Amino acid sequence: MDVCINGDDMKKVTVKTFQAMKENGEKITSLTAYDYSTAKYLDEAGIDFMLVGDSVGMVILGYENTSKVTIDEMKIFTAAVARGVKRAFVVADMPFMSYHADVAEGVRNAGELIRAGADAVKIEGASKHILEVIERCVDAGIPVMAHLGFTPQFLKTLGGFKVQGKTYEASMKLLEEAKAVQAAGAFAVTLEMIPAETAKYITDSIDIPTIGIGAGKDCSGQILVSDDVFGKYSNLSPKFVRRYGDMATLIKDAAAKYIKDVKTGNFPNLDESFLLPNTESEKLVGNG
Ligand code: KIV
Repeated sequence: MDVCINGDDMKKVTVKTFQAMKENGEKITSLTAYDYSTAKYLDEAGIDFMLVGDSVGMVILGYENTSKVTIDEMKIFTAAVARGVKRAFVVADMPFMSYHADVAEGVRNAGELIRAGADAVKIEGASKHILEVIERCVDAGIPVMAHLGFTPQFLKTLGGFKVQGKTYEASMKLLEEAKAVQAAGAFAVTLEMIPAETAKYITDSIDIPTIGIGAGKDCSGQILVSDDVFGKYSNLSPKFVRRYGDMATLIKDAAAKYIKDVKTGNFPNLDESFLLPNTESEKLVGNG
């Protein structure tokens, strides 16, 4: 099995790559990204796909949940990420109410995200309406990643951040939904906050790859919010997050040192300043 670490295989990732990875038993890796330089570093590190998640609303824009994010905001963040990426696949979230009221509007909005630079869009849910949106996007040549289990855009109807599929019946319902999004043409499905056994059962029962977040280790791949992973966003700390860095401390320590250096006249020094040629500076001094 060929495993790409540190982006050493520069071939652009496509929808076909994910299917092949599931079939070869190679785990798919993903993190969210919202800006050019983070996207560049994640790409260089060898991540398989980046999600421009509507979590941008919480971790970047400071909203309480994701429902305030608009399609115009998603277009800006998607374009920034796409500019930073050479190898990874870029998935952009369709935000709340950008596909719920009308199928045609959903397809047009998905097209806008593709025009902004996304390789695919992600759509939450599996109702009859959502399945039609998925089908029509795929018909239009727009790859769709589905999203089941805990679906943040349904936060109010789900009654909060709650694990889904906690009974046999609820697990079977999730499996039916996973089969339905696959039949509608989704190339992969994100499974969020569901029991590990349910996620494994679904992964083994469908053909398309599953991408887990709080769904145990047996999904075809894993995704996390990068600001959680890098220790930058601290308003929520879900059980399923593993922190690999401490950017909050890094930023606060560096900022404190900068503040101190400015206050004490330690910054900038001569090397960090532009200087007049001696002849010109002497004239200035002479003038004073
Ligand atoms: O918006 C988001 O970040 C998501 C998660 C699956 C990571 O949808």
